[in-house]
Amino acid sequence: MFKTLDLENISTGEAQHFLQHAIAPRPIALASTVDAVGNVNLSPFSFFNLFSITPPVVVFSPSSRLRDNTSKHTLENLQEVPEVVINIVTYDMVQQVSLSSCEYPKGVNEFDKAGFTQISSEKIRPPRVKESPVQMECRVLEIRPMGTQGGAGNLVIAEILMLHVNSLVLDENGSIDQQKLSLTARLGGNWYARITPENLFQVKKPSREIGIGIDSLPPAIRDSNILTGNHLARLANVSEIPSIDPSFHDEKLTQIFQYYAIDPDELERELHLHAGSLLDEEKTNEAWQVLLATAQA
Ligand SMILES: Cc1cc2nc3c(=O)[nH]c(=O)nc-3n(C[C@H](O)[C@H](O)[C@H](O)COP(=O)(O)O)c2cc1C
Repeated sequence: MFKTLDLENISTGEAQHFLQHAIAPRPIALASTVDAVGNVNLSPFSFFNLFSITPPVVVFSPSSRLRDNTSKHTLENLQEVPEVVINIVTYDMVQQVSLSSCEYPKGVNEFDKAGFTQISSEKIRPPRVKESPVQMECRVLEIRPMGTQGGAGNLVIAEILMLHVNSLVLDENGSIDQQKLSLTARLGGNWYARITPENLFQVKKPSREIGIGIDSLPPAIRDSNILTGNHLARLANVSEIPSIDPSFHDEKLTQIFQYYAIDPDELERELHLHAGSLLDEEKTNEAWQVLLATAQA
């Protein structure tokens, strides 16, 4: 069962609810801008992402205010001075970032309101946020309005000119250590997500030699009631189905055969459970051997 929504026939509030809860987590750009006379503004934007490496391009979107269709100060500043520092947001900064999103009157510097420290940029006028571990000096290439009504986004397309990375988040090779950068992202409503070493995990890139694909797995494996989509995808990432390794020995496999040999359904179930555990431990070769033994049984 799906709840299906026709975006042309629902309220703005409903659209916002579903889209912002589902298209999440979104990284947060803490954008620093200046107006023509140099007044500084700082505001967070989670409609933000990286869109190109060569040239290095980011986009973010200050919407017009839903309430009265007026423009946000960030957008007005960018129209006067097409430069922005995008400061990456970490967990330690998130309450101050939220505070900086208050609708202070034009000309109020949210660095002061939110208690952030300004440091000069090298190539552009807006200052950087010292507390942010990654700061990007950007030149605005284009601003594309998405519509004319209140709530319409304005896609700011900006090229990154300079990148400043705090050495505290670097590893011994001078690269960013993903575990040290406690990134924090926006979801729907008041929800945020925080990256910690405990909730990070890695997925290896698929085989260069091209995985056989789930459709090429033997039916007894593909149609298993035990193995999940993640398990099958790990198995299907081999370039060919392995052959039985006569030297493969596994204590648990021997035990399963001893206990369940008389009941083929139960035997298959136990072998698939065992293969699933091996796959969870990234032991794909061993899991294949267990499943090949199952096929032979
Ligand atoms: C984490 C976070 C993310 C936000 N993302 C956006 C966004 O992507 N687009 C937007 O228009 N407003 C967004 N807002 C609200 C703006 O930050 C808020 O309207 C702010 O007052 C705009 O400031 P300005 O008028 O000084 O530019 C966000 C607020 C928070 C706290």
